[in-house]
Amino acid sequence: KYFDVLGMKIPVFVAPNPKLLSDVISNFQTRAEDVFVVTYPKSGTIWMQETIWQIYNNGENTSKNIFERVPFLEFSTSPILGEFADIAKVPSPRLMKSHLSYSIIPKGSSDGAKCKYIYIARNPKDVAVSYFHFTVSLASFGNGYNGPWEIFPMLYCISLTVGWNKWNDHVLGWWKHKDDPNVLFLKYEDLKKDLPSQVRLTANFLNKPLSEDIINRITEQCSFNGMTKDLSRYMVHVNESQTSILRKGVVGDWKNSFTPELNERFEKEVLSKIEGTRLEFDFEL
Ligand code: A3P
Repeated sequence: KYFDVLGMKIPVFVAPNPKLLSDVISNFQTRAEDVFVVTYPKSGTIWMQETIWQIYNNGENTSKNIFERVPFLEFSTSPILGEFADIAKVPSPRLMKSHLSYSIIPKGSSDGAKCKYIYIARNPKDVAVSYFHFTVSLASFGNGYNGPWEIFPMLYCISLTVGWNKWNDHVLGWWKHKDDPNVLFLKYEDLKKDLPSQVRLTANFLNKPLSEDIINRITEQCSFNGMTKDLSRYMVHVNESQTSILRKGVVGDWKNSFTPELNERFEKEVLSKIEGTRLEFDFEL
């Protein structure tokens, strides 16, 4: 159910033609105005896609699906997305989403225009739970995981069952570039703690400073309650089926699913790998 694309494991329904996608990624011409929201899946991608779209549109709201407004680079060769798939034709400023690792994300030529990347990291225990629910919901239409929760977190740690490789490699690859001037490294838990300040930070990084009124409006519209008012904007459509990206939207949901044994193993196999890197997460608020 996965293809290898430039060393990344990508679900077949996202990249039905791996050669075409690797060509698209390798030949992608970045523009200085491009903005990529980059994450390991289930870390708050849609949340930031919606936020930056509203930053660029002065707090405007719309009923259009988020994939139409902020297209998903890896999905761009999939016929599922149809007419809005051709990212090359999207006028600037292009707002895009990607789950690619730092090593393979399009960067343009070294002397050329540097686009911007907003990376969102989330504590890996909540990512595992969120990813489990998402892949189970996809299983009903043949693209997901249909095994039990008990073994999912370990499969996730070693990246057997999930796409976009291992969580720790992905996050650490981007963490090394957190101080690059064209990278903004944010955390899901900080968005939960203080969304207005994170919206302000993001707007300033994008050179789009906003009035407090607009920041408040964006914060309200991009809160979990604000976004769940119209779930049709955040549905993933695969063939005839669809699933929602917004589920619970909290920090610490992992406690409802992790046994003490699993927690211990997870600490050893996943969290020990980020020790000494200064990358830290809140596991509850
Ligand atoms: P849960 O499954 O834990 O609820 P992604 O967009 O990367 O796939 O991430 C999906 C996760 O982000 C889901 O987590 C979803 O509920 C959460 N999310 C999306 N919008 C959110 C918001 N406005 N506030 C809090 N969490 C949000």
